[in-house]
Amino acid sequence: MNRTPQTNESCPSFSHLDPIRRRFPCLQQEIHGNPLVYLDSAATTQKPTQVLQAVESFYQEDCSNVHRGVHTLSERATIRYEAVRAKVAQFIHAPDPHGVIFTSGTTEAINLVARTIGRDRVSSGDQVLISTMEHHANIVPWQMLCEEQGAKLVIIPCTDDGDLILDDLQSLITDRTKVVSIGHVSNAVGTMHDIQNVIAVAREKGAITMIDSAQAISHLPIDVEQLGCDFLAFSAHKMYGPTGTGVLWGRKELLDQMSPWQGGGDMIRTVTFENSTFADVPWKFEAGTPHIAGVIGLGAAVDFIQEVGFETIQPHEQQLLEKTVTRLDQLDGLTIIGRPENRISVVSFVLDRIHPHDAGTIMDQQGVAIRAGHHCAMPLMSRFGVAATIRASFAIYNTLDDIDALVAAIESVQEVFN
Ligand code: ALA
Repeated sequence: MNRTPQTNESCPSFSHLDPIRRRFPCLQQEIHGNPLVYLDSAATTQKPTQVLQAVESFYQEDCSNVHRGVHTLSERATIRYEAVRAKVAQFIHAPDPHGVIFTSGTTEAINLVARTIGRDRVSSGDQVLISTMEHHANIVPWQMLCEEQGAKLVIIPCTDDGDLILDDLQSLITDRTKVVSIGHVSNAVGTMHDIQNVIAVAREKGAITMIDSAQAISHLPIDVEQLGCDFLAFSAHKMYGPTGTGVLWGRKELLDQMSPWQGGGDMIRTVTFENSTFADVPWKFEAGTPHIAGVIGLGAAVDFIQEVGFETIQPHEQQLLEKTVTRLDQLDGLTIIGRPENRISVVSFVLDRIHPHDAGTIMDQQGVAIRAGHHCAMPLMSRFGVAATIRASFAIYNTLDDIDALVAAIESVQEVFN
């Protein structure tokens, strides 16, 4: 069954988003003879032309290394790279651009914190608090740290609906809790956690707070000052930017105290065979040639989000979420996994007697791209008693027609199996 291309005509209220959608070249294609319906933005978003052009213009016009050259190209590359630091700081309301460290992504950012201040602060008998709903990137680095230091990983439980149970927070965070590291938004079921509450209690008890905002950054405005956390991480590729680039923001006074974690070029002040001294924050945490083009692309992604504006993004995505839940609830043989109180536009579900991978493969034949699997959240899958789910995740370029295509694709899967 082939579908006709989308026009958005069935939904006049969304027609103002057509120009935005047209800015994503990858969306303008057919998959197996059907127009692509991309519902896997939680895995990675598509990239608008301005991001692609920013990356290309760096390689075409300014290709050079940063912080090293005295020649014009290097100066231009350095100016473009450092300008993104200031832009990101403004985007997340960080008081000082020097608190913005460029990493390869959220995973590297969390590992950096675990391997530096985590190692310094967590000793035998201490505790690190995370939640049942974390992505593996916010579990494994802490697990490794706890094993190494003889500490204990403590887990905030969640309800059947996929909300964190925070009633016992005061007793879960003890004077042995040295780090509290929580996801801002669940990548698997979309829950927006009450992180403000968690941060407040953790701070009161003297624990370091780390927020994994990978799934939040393109969906809601972030203000690190207002949140009051110590560290916050996100990846460019989940916010319309390039892969292989991300950000760790940290409180400058903590970053100043922390030792570097990777040694190499660009992070030093002096080197002899006897010892080395290190550059200032943030450069002491950016060893080696960074992903300069990626960082420049990240800057363009921030521009894109700010041009569209969260005042447009949030209601649009909430409308998509509500319609998806309504339509999926009407289908027999489908169970939505997680019905959190507050969520972004991510919906996970299972189909009776059909493995998510089989469903995903058949849906792809219709041009509908979803993610099937454990979503790098195996403990959460266990909590819900499933091995895997089908996940539809939405971004600013999705339309109500995409939901019709999703529903039609699910119905075809059910037809094949029944
Ligand atoms: N962490 C990414 C996801 O949720 C890859 O799909």
